Amino acid sequence: MSATSTHTCGLISLAILTILCVHVNSEPWIPEAADVQYGSLDCNVTLACSSPWPRSLAEWRLNGSTPVPEQTVLGSDGGLTLVNAKQHMGGIYSCHDEKGNVVHAVKLYLGRAPEPLNVSCRMANHFVVRCSWKPLVNTYLPSKFIATYRNDDLVATCHQEPSQPNECTIGNPFAWWHTVTMNITEVNPLGSASTRILLQFHKLLRPDPPEAVTTEPVAGQPRKLRVSWRYPSSWPQSRAFPLLFQLRYRPVGSNIWSERSTTDTNVTITDVVSGHPHLIQVQAGDELSFGSWSEWSPELQALPWIVEASPPTKEDPAYNLFTEPITVESTEPPPEDHRNVGVLVCLGLLAGVILLMLCTLIILLWMRQKRRDCMMKRELASMMSMQHVKI
Ligand SMILES: *[C@@H]1O[C@H](CO)[C@@H](O)[C@H](O)[C@H]1NC(C)=O
Ligand SMILES: *[C@@H]1O[C@H](CO)[C@@H](O)[C@H](O)[C@H]1NC(C)=O
Ligand SMILES: *[C@@H]1O[C@H](CO)[C@@H](O)[C@H](O)[C@H]1NC(C)=O
Repeated sequence: MSATSTHTCGLISLAILTILCVHVNSEPWIPEAADVQYGSLDCNVTLACSSPWPRSLAEWRLNGSTPVPEQTVLGSDGGLTLVNAKQHMGGIYSCHDEKGNVVHAVKLYLGRAPEPLNVSCRMANHFVVRCSWKPLVNTYLPSKFIATYRNDDLVATCHQEPSQPNECTIGNPFAWWHTVTMNITEVNPLGSASTRILLQFHKLLRPDPPEAVTTEPVAGQPRKLRVSWRYPSSWPQSRAFPLLFQLRYRPVGSNIWSERSTTDTNVTITDVVSGHPHLIQVQAGDELSFGSWSEWSPELQALPWIVEASPPTKEDPAYNLFTEPITVESTEPPPEDHRNVGVLVCLGLLAGVILLMLCTLIILLWMRQKRRDCMMKRELASMMSMQHVKI
C-alpha cells in the first residue's frame, strides 16, 4: 500500500474555484455572491481583499456581522491571515470599506487533504469482487473516489454505485486466478491520495457462512442430533461450484470441539452426550480449496432427544441404549435385575410359608387320627369289659 498526497500546508493559495451564489433573503447584509475558498486546518490561511480598483479598507467581518476571530493577522495589502485555522473559524468572510460596503467576500471551508484509505476487498463467490474503503481521518470536505484496477497494462474501472460511494465491484473478473492492483484515489479540494492494494483472486475467495442452520433431535435417539443448513445466498445455487462444509459441535461447558466435513447440507451426528445441550456451528469453503473458509455460522444450541420426555418400552430400540451404562467399566447391575431378585425372594418366601402350613396341617391331621384310634380302642376295651361284667 502506498499513497501520494498533495497536501499543501502554509499559505493557502488554492485557486478560487467557483462563484457561489448565497441566497439570503432575510439578512440583506450578506454579500449576494462570495468566492469559495478551502483552507487546511491547523495551517495559516490567508484571505485576500481583492478589488478591481483601489479602495480604502475599514474592516473584516465574519458571517456579515461578527468580528473576525482573535487569531488573525491583517496584512499590509489588506489580506487577512487566520493563524492555525480551527474548525470553528469557517464561514463567510467579507472586507468592507469605510462606508460599510462589501469590497470582497469569501466563503471559507476548513478541512484536510485526503490521506490513505483503509481498503478491503472480498469475493463471496467466483463472479464478483467487492471492495470497500473507509477514510482514516475526517477531512470535513466533500470527497470523490476514483477506483481502478490494473492487470499488466490493462487498466479498468471498478464499478461504483452512486448510492454506495465507498464501495466498488468488479463483475466477472476476466481471469480470476490473476493478480490485479486495485487503486482507490480520494480527491477533495485540498488534494488527493491514492491507496493501492494487490488482489490475488484465488486467495481472496471466501464464501459467506452457511445460512438457515437448524438442528432437531432424532426421536428415540438420545445420542443423535440432525443438523441442516443452506448454501449462502451469495453463492451460486446451481452447484456448478460445490461447497465443502465443516460442522463442529461440543457439549455446553466443554472446550473441545468435534468436527465433521461434508458436501451435503445436512448431517446426523451420532455421538452427542445424552441429555446434554450442545453448541453447533457450520462453515463453508470452496470444494477445490481456493481461498479460505467462511466465518463460522452463529453458535446454535441444541438438546438431543431426552428419555424423560416419553418413557420408552422394552420394544423401543432406545430402551436398551438408555439402560446400558455409558461407561463400560461400570459393574453395577441395571435396576431391572434388582426387581427380579426381589420377586424371586418373595416367591421363595411364599412357597416356604405354604409348605410350612401344609406340613403343620398334615401333622395335625395325623395326630387327630391317632387320638381317635386310641379312643376307639379304649371304648372297645371298656365295652368288652362291660359285657364281661354282664356275663
Ligand atoms: C503562521 O502565522 C504565524 C503568525 O504570522 C507565524 O508565527 C507562523 O510561523 C505561521 N505558521 C506557518 C506554518 O506558516
Ligand atoms: C458562520 O457561518 C457558518 C455557516 O456558514 C457557521 O458554520 C459558523 O459557525 C459561523 N461562524 C460564526 C462565528 O458565527
Ligand atoms: C491511481 O489512480 C489515480 C486516479 O486515477 C491516478 O492518478 C494514479 O496515477 C493511479 N496510481 C497508480 C499507481 O496507478
